[in-house]
Amino acid sequence: MTTRFGLHSFLSLLCFILLTFSSSAQQQDTLTIGQSLTDGQSLVSSGGSFRLGYFRPENSSSRYLGIWYGARVPTQTVVWVANRGAPISDTGGFLNLTREGILVLSDGDRNNLAVWSSNVTRRVSPTSGFVAQLLESGNLVVRDAADENPDNFLWQSFDYLTNSLLPGMKIGRNLTSGLNRTMRSWRSGEDPAEGDFSVLIETEGYPQLLVRRGTAIQFRAGSWNGLRFTGVPSLNPSPTFSFEYQYDEGEEVYFRFAVPNNTVVSRYAISTSGLLQHLTWSNRTGEWIVIGTAQGDRCQNYGLCGTYASCYGSRAPACECLTSFSPRNPSDFSRSAWEEGCVRRTALACNSSDGFILHSSVKLPDTAVARWNRTIGLAECRRLCLGNCSCTGYSSLDIRNGGSGCLMWFDDLIDIRELADRGQDLYVRVAGSEIRAAIQGNQGRTVIMIASVVSSLVALLVILGILLYARKRKLEQKETPKTNEEMDLPTFDLSTIVDATNDFAIGNKLGEGGFGPVYMGKLPEGQEIAVKRLSTSSGQGMSEFKNEVILFAKLQHRNLVRLLGCCIHEDEKMLIYEYMPNKSLDFFIFDETQRKLLNWQRRSIIIDGIVRGLLYFHQNSRLRIIHRDLKASNILLDKELRPKISDFGLASTFGGDQTEGETKKVVGTFVYMSPEYAVDGLFSVKSDVFSFEVLVLEIVSGRRNRGFYHTDHDLNLVGHAWTLWNEGAALGLIDDSLKESCNESEALRCIHVALLCVQQRPEDRPNMSAAVLMLGSENPLPEPKLPGFYLRRNPPEADTSCSANQVSITVMEPR
Ligand SMILES: *[C@@H]1O[C@H](CO)[C@@H](O)[C@H](O)[C@H]1NC(C)=O
Ligand SMILES: *[C@@H]1O[C@H](CO)[C@@H](O)[C@H](O)[C@H]1NC(C)=O
Ligand SMILES: *[C@@H]1O[C@H](CO)[C@@H](O)[C@H](O)[C@H]1NC(C)=O
Ligand SMILES: *[C@@H]1O[C@H](CO)[C@@H](O)[C@H](O)[C@H]1NC(C)=O
Ligand SMILES: *[C@@H]1O[C@H](CO)[C@@H](O)[C@H](O)[C@H]1NC(C)=O
Ligand SMILES: *[C@@H]1O[C@H](CO)[C@@H](O)[C@H](O)[C@H]1NC(C)=O
Ligand SMILES: *[C@@H]1O[C@H](CO)[C@@H](O)[C@H](O)[C@H]1NC(C)=O
Ligand SMILES: *[C@@H]1O[C@H](CO)[C@@H](O)[C@H](O)[C@H]1NC(C)=O
Ligand SMILES: *[C@@H]1O[C@H](CO)[C@@H](O)[C@H](O)[C@H]1NC(C)=O
Ligand SMILES: *[C@@H]1O[C@H](CO)[C@@H](O)[C@H](O)[C@H]1NC(C)=O
Repeated sequence: MTTRFGLHSFLSLLCFILLTFSSSAQQQDTLTIGQSLTDGQSLVSSGGSFRLGYFRPENSSSRYLGIWYGARVPTQTVVWVANRGAPISDTGGFLNLTREGILVLSDGDRNNLAVWSSNVTRRVSPTSGFVAQLLESGNLVVRDAADENPDNFLWQSFDYLTNSLLPGMKIGRNLTSGLNRTMRSWRSGEDPAEGDFSVLIETEGYPQLLVRRGTAIQFRAGSWNGLRFTGVPSLNPSPTFSFEYQYDEGEEVYFRFAVPNNTVVSRYAISTSGLLQHLTWSNRTGEWIVIGTAQGDRCQNYGLCGTYASCYGSRAPACECLTSFSPRNPSDFSRSAWEEGCVRRTALACNSSDGFILHSSVKLPDTAVARWNRTIGLAECRRLCLGNCSCTGYSSLDIRNGGSGCLMWFDDLIDIRELADRGQDLYVRVAGSEIRAAIQGNQGRTVIMIASVVSSLVALLVILGILLYARKRKLEQKETPKTNEEMDLPTFDLSTIVDATNDFAIGNKLGEGGFGPVYMGKLPEGQEIAVKRLSTSSGQGMSEFKNEVILFAKLQHRNLVRLLGCCIHEDEKMLIYEYMPNKSLDFFIFDETQRKLLNWQRRSIIIDGIVRGLLYFHQNSRLRIIHRDLKASNILLDKELRPKISDFGLASTFGGDQTEGETKKVVGTFVYMSPEYAVDGLFSVKSDVFSFEVLVLEIVSGRRNRGFYHTDHDLNLVGHAWTLWNEGAALGLIDDSLKESCNESEALRCIHVALLCVQQRPEDRPNMSAAVLMLGSENPLPEPKLPGFYLRRNPPEADTSCSANQVSITVMEPR
């Protein structure tokens, strides 16, 4: 007994000693000369934010020395790697600091080969020896033990970026020493060696941020305009993020960002496929969320439209010549081979008879051929440009405070795109006769407006032509076998669908959506499907329809209902989706008994899921999609009651004619529509944010915005929420059946964010990623302003309180 007790306590003591020893050893943030860091050991920054140690990438057997996050990010996320291209094959690696202040990583094999070393060319004799220290910022530095001044660091990992940009880290170039601070992608998820993609600030001409693939430009974020890179409208200072850009000619150029008060864990990263993304760690969902990228659509491809053409993200065709330019090769251009771009219709006179056409709201063209002057204004800029025949255009250098400085281009203009929000003004030089031809005088805006009316007429004619042609071809090709091109399209035979749905039996009908009836079906292999039979009146051309199906079938996200394919038979068009057994969200939240199945936690998961699906639409997928008809009945629930967004693409593409920012036919469910969309037909991602938050209010309150009825007033749910908020009684909005499960502070935050998102003016509303940040953090939020559409449209009738059928689609202009 005694011996056993003695042994036991001895072992405990040993354990205790070992634990204390190892934990104190692990808490160390510095490495001194003579010490070495072996595999299994790590340095931890003083506040625990970062760790330096050895890691093995997933699916790899090699080991690397790297830096990753400490306790705030539980999933190991490596942000810096020392020996990227020189892996260590076993756990024998060790890191030493030499007397000269050089970090040496050895592989621990017989020859103790140095696989990596910090490259210090400067010779300094320290006053009291060197130390290597991992700072709270994630920066590994070598410094004089007695000197903490960052300017005197002998070496720092922040100068040698890998695939991540952390707060405080610079990307750019020291123009004196030539040091390039360039991000480089990993080769693959399992290999940190340098991949194809790099992110850098190129200093030829006027500096701009580029993503390169090898030496070719993949994506051009563009020049800095005082607020952001011209091609990245989503880059906006906020209480959560601040951005700094510095360009001192001959000295240094850099960009960096900061997270004041460390409210979120955030970084930029270049993915192995070349996407530059802004990521934030979400503690709610336990994963990195992409909150911003500029590479959202096909216009991201550098020079897609060639010279003197502008790219439109959500219009077909994507490229259009600038006013007074025409395609260099019209037949190629009309076949969507745009690379050769456009040329002047009329040669320049090269004297003061030339003029400029203003293109507002664009991303400025490639500035590799630009020159600038910070001190002169726009009028002087115009004069200078006009005075040199090689000058093709000009703009403000800095758009803050009404604009200042002068940026001029001295060669063909390339890589321009239309930006609906936050673009800037570009003046393009054209011959005087071109300006007079369009309108008397030199009023760019009017010229462009007239031009766009003309071009939409032309576009209409072209579309008509294509439709007629397609119809003719269809007649000709009725019995021809499928071409290779069509093989890409996931199609189903009509007979398969007829069998699967029992010939569209009434018993199989799931419901009637805005675009036609939906049937449940079962394929011979047993897979359950939902078949949406599009009403034949949707006048879309067959080839456009096929293109859209190919496009949407490629979208995959766990919060989207998967489009499996389509079925086309003569005039009939059907869309085949995966089947969701649990119906839609409205079936639950608006039903007295069903709503009890969704407690607060479930509803919170549903909100999160919708957020992620929408973020994917707005930012992550290859094309930016605006849903435009987000509502409870379009949120389907799977077996585990997780949400999946459905009917995406229908509103914006199957729904009929629309141009980038305007639409003639307003599609959507009125109660969820933002004022600018319903009244003016203007839509943007912000309209989706509006609808989303109306939906959030419905989820929290269990009441319909539309059918909402209150004896005291004429307000709809949004208006009611706004009133309660101002009375400090917002908790009264929460669904009674949630009273027990509800987390009050979370619910209040949801309501607060919702009210911010339904503000009347779109520019006051946060975008989706900002909304996500607001939902997920505990930062103070601004006070909401007056919401849009807070009055019920119709004064109360006898009783409109319950499930008034949600009448979809307000058609303002009959076809
Ligand atoms: C690294 O330090 C260890 C002692 O910690 C020493 O045995 C070894 O020789 C050193 N290696 C190099 C390459 O300096
Ligand atoms: C996430 O949650 C963990 C555990 O609750 C906490 O330690 C960590 O600080 C949180 N991270 C952030 C970024 O708030
Ligand atoms: C150190 O830098 C020099 C020149 O900048 C370069 O030639 C050398 O390869 C670098 N060494 C290492 C280990 O990176
Ligand atoms: C650029 O590099 C030079 C030489 O290494 C150095 O003296 C200078 O301080 C650096 N400039 C900046 C702004 O860091
Ligand atoms: C940095 O990049 C520039 C331009 O790409 C290049 O000319 C220069 O050699 C690079 N500097 C170093 C030290 O690699
Ligand atoms: C590791 O391998 C699995 C299975 O092949 C794969 O699904 C996963 O994506 C791989 N992980 C990485 C980081 O490549
Ligand atoms: C950050 O902290 C400062 C001072 O501590 C405070 O004035 C500021 O409002 C804080 N910002 C945020 C976003 O919390
Ligand atoms: C500009 O040049 C054109 C042709 O070279 C000429 O016809 C015209 O008179 C000139 N205009 C002015 C204002 O010099
Ligand atoms: C900018 O313009 C001013 C006024 O014309 C001139 O004095 C100055 O030299 C110009 N600066 C550069 C860099 O060309
Ligand atoms: C016009 O600009 C180009 C390019 O900057 C320059 O080479 C040329 O000398 C300029 N011509 C005149 C007449 O100033």
